[in-house]
Amino acid sequence: MGKMWSGRFSENASTLLDEFNASLNFDKKLYQYDILGSMAHAKMLGCQGILTDEEVNSIINGLEKVRSEIESGDFEFNISDEDIHMAIEKRLTELIGDAGKKLHTARSRNDQVALDFRLYVQDHNKTIRKLILNLIETLISVADKNKETLLPGMTHLQHAQPINFGYHMMAYASMLKRDYERFESSYKRNNLSPIGCAALAGTPHPIDRNATAKELGFDAPTLNCLDTVSDRDFALEMLFNIATMMMHISRLSEELIIWSSSEFGFITLSDAYSTGSSIMPQKKNPDVPELLRGKTGRTFGNLISLLTVMKGLPLAYNKDMQEDKEGTFDSVETAEISLTILNEVIKTMQVNKDKMEKACMVGHLSATDLADYLVEKCSIPFREAHFITGRAVALAEQKKCDLSELSAQDLQSIDERINDDVTDYLSIRYSMNARNSQGGTATSKTAEQIEYLKSWIQSI
Ligand code: ARG
Repeated sequence: MGKMWSGRFSENASTLLDEFNASLNFDKKLYQYDILGSMAHAKMLGCQGILTDEEVNSIINGLEKVRSEIESGDFEFNISDEDIHMAIEKRLTELIGDAGKKLHTARSRNDQVALDFRLYVQDHNKTIRKLILNLIETLISVADKNKETLLPGMTHLQHAQPINFGYHMMAYASMLKRDYERFESSYKRNNLSPIGCAALAGTPHPIDRNATAKELGFDAPTLNCLDTVSDRDFALEMLFNIATMMMHISRLSEELIIWSSSEFGFITLSDAYSTGSSIMPQKKNPDVPELLRGKTGRTFGNLISLLTVMKGLPLAYNKDMQEDKEGTFDSVETAEISLTILNEVIKTMQVNKDKMEKACMVGHLSATDLADYLVEKCSIPFREAHFITGRAVALAEQKKCDLSELSAQDLQSIDERINDDVTDYLSIRYSMNARNSQGGTATSKTAEQIEYLKSWIQSI
């Protein structure tokens, strides 16, 4: 059989054209959505009296057969069929004869591809959300076990104030919650059916778009056919949501890499998720977080690619839009494997509490607490308190100890207004727990954040 569109052509297409033009090699991933869409379309055509019941049944059975041929590897993909839509329709017609030729009534590949691609995006939106929730649950459980584990909180990668490790994990859990909500909101906004829009202007056939929308799990049909076959912003939202989420994953990965270095030693990655060196027998490398950080780049690239493809296109469909799929598939697959493996890495990592707590004795983390103490308990103006604290830090440096290790006498030698109880306020744990404002690091506040996210997950 020649090309489906060969009617007005007198010469055969060159093989070079076939190779350049075809999307079959990548859009075969859409086969199951294409088959579902065709089944829904055929049923609707039957209900509307456009096809007979017999034709509808034969189409449905034929499509089942095509599906099983594809799934068993018996389907012969031929690049001259151009794309998955025509490959399936051609095989259907070979299998069932004339009824197959009626399937494309009131439909165009333009609404067909818009449907298949949207079904793919919506389906994977659900998968990704599930995977995000798994990761959030893992972060929560690590947080729960470590809400008392002291950790030097940093700014500029310099020791700043003591926090707890659970609180740090909850920061990432909070980012991932927003990621989840972004996917959820995109899902809701885009859960509208493109099928029945035909080429660009609708169709004169008496179709029922509500019926196909319902059958395929959409909330309703889209509003405007011209828009529907022209736009790909549902995919762009997916790409943006993935890119943002991967940016969060990349930052967490960066921290895992730093924390697992011998300089920090805050965590030990499980052997199952670490790799060795081909030359240095002693090495254990954090390849997984490094790859997560690295793969984030391509998800940014895929977003920019599709934005760029779309930016100059007149309405409606242009072949440029065939370029929408590979990058989206790549981002989706990258997101899914990244979420899955990161979850395992976090689940299996060892948290070296002692190393974290020891690191808190470096950098005079309770300096702000001393200044606050001087203001509150000794009625010293803040600027003066800041200066006195600076002197105390200098004394600790001179004595080669941490500020929290100075005695009350040491501090009183700097300013005699300082009371004997000062040392209680300078311990690192006291300092962490003193930050008990809403959303703060205090163990009690970290526990509240954990409870909040747990009940949020329950409510989904
Ligand atoms: N393979 C095409 C794509 O992925 C399908 C739509 C083609 N429509 C058309 N009028 N050429 O975009």
